[in-house]
Amino acid sequence: MTATTTTRDEARPRTSGPRKLPPMLPGGLPLLGHSVEMRYRPIDLFQRGRDRFGEMFSLKLPGTPVSVMMSGPKAHQKFFRLTDEEISMREVYKLMTPIFGKGIAYDAEPEIMKEQLAFFHDALRETRLKTYAAGFVEETEEYFGKWGDEGVVDLYQAGNELTIYTSSRSLLGRSFRYKLSSEFQRLYYEMEAGLNLLAFFAPDLPLPSFRRRDAARKRLGELVSAIVRERREKGIGEEDFLQTLMDAHYKDGRGLTEDEMTGLLLAIMFAGHHTSGVTFAWTGILLNQNPQWIGRLREEQDRVLGDSDELSLEKLRGMNLLECAVKEALRLYPPIIVMMRKVLKGFEYGGYYVPPEAMIMTSPAMAHRIPEVFADPNRFDPERFGPERDEDKKNPMGWISFGGGRHRCMGIVFAQLQLRAVWSHLLRNFDFELLEPRYEPDYNRMLVGPRMPCRARYRRRKRRVVVAVA
Ligand code: HEM
Repeated sequence: MTATTTTRDEARPRTSGPRKLPPMLPGGLPLLGHSVEMRYRPIDLFQRGRDRFGEMFSLKLPGTPVSVMMSGPKAHQKFFRLTDEEISMREVYKLMTPIFGKGIAYDAEPEIMKEQLAFFHDALRETRLKTYAAGFVEETEEYFGKWGDEGVVDLYQAGNELTIYTSSRSLLGRSFRYKLSSEFQRLYYEMEAGLNLLAFFAPDLPLPSFRRRDAARKRLGELVSAIVRERREKGIGEEDFLQTLMDAHYKDGRGLTEDEMTGLLLAIMFAGHHTSGVTFAWTGILLNQNPQWIGRLREEQDRVLGDSDELSLEKLRGMNLLECAVKEALRLYPPIIVMMRKVLKGFEYGGYYVPPEAMIMTSPAMAHRIPEVFADPNRFDPERFGPERDEDKKNPMGWISFGGGRHRCMGIVFAQLQLRAVWSHLLRNFDFELLEPRYEPDYNRMLVGPRMPCRARYRRRKRRVVVAVA
């Protein structure tokens, strides 16, 4: 009898020798493999693998036949250049489906997802940035205007609070932000509370936290629908993300449903809120641990702003040292410490074969401390990104705080402008003193920020006296 079925091995493209899987890192527990270590000490685990095997090795994690860590600029290039036909993000982000909605973002078919993500490009186009920048400045002044002359704040909390205001304003417009921001905040936190490991494996269990998550999503959908209808009835056009989605069409001419608009707004909110909030906090911590940088950044503020306190988009763009400082905070403490993809089509890299069904991973938090890429990698040294050293440009995809390739973060400019607006204000108006003995990453959170409490004492600085020179 002739065999007509094809085994997986036969279906693979031929190569000259036997196919080797990346070497397995020893250790781990029966059944749980390396998952416990990955949960509590992820960076030590990844570093141990890299020290032993270099840019590619395997880990044992439940639920996948093999998980492969890829690190270093060349391996990142391979990782980020794999196409959506070769790898899938759907599996990885499936815990977000109850929040974004069925058929929205990563739950959509790849072609539809591509179209939906492209709507964000429109919302983030150059002409809109001026409006967003003005919003960042106004929100920042209002938020810190409420602080007294001296007090103690939690930097983690402050960052997340402020960025919820800036985000809701850019997404849904100024009037919504003032009318509804406390309800929006509550709904957002209830959805967020439904994000945990269980949601990854069984997002529809009848648990109270999942019920609250679903009720909050429904209510937010109603709020968005009400704004959409009001704008349409009154012929109002705004400069925000919602307006872009209201005006957008798929290639087949269909407009977006209100549910799709809600889901995509939430996708942006979840992508941009904590990531920016956490980076705000780390920037503050690192600058105050390296106070010589505060002096240099204040000189830059004086140079760029002169006697005026008016912050325009152009002025924010001129703050190059501040940009390098934020970038350095993102290098040392990237909020997304690991990115994952499920392999659909097996591929070769570095003499190894990665089979279908494998999970591949890359970790900015580990890779950003590779000494061959970043000199003296544990030091806070924003000058590494300056024109004389250009450590990131010399090693394309060595710095991956915003990911890379076709799914590289779309909010890079938005996030950087926002962080510059906030820190420009703080540098000019406040002195800080750090109060915790140590500030360390909290790996209990999906988006990794400094562990709480994360307190600092602030003191309002005397306003600059502007002396007119004859
Ligand atoms: C400091 C702040 C931020 C950091 C560190 C950050 C980081 C990232 C990273 C690492 C990815 C890629 C994830 C992956 O490949 O699995 C990503 C994707 C994305 N980010 Fe950001 N992000 C930030 C802020 C923002 C903001 C403010 C927005 C929107 C205004 C945004 C919108 C997006 C979107 C839409 C994607 C998905 C792109 C795609 O899948 O094609 N991000 N971000």
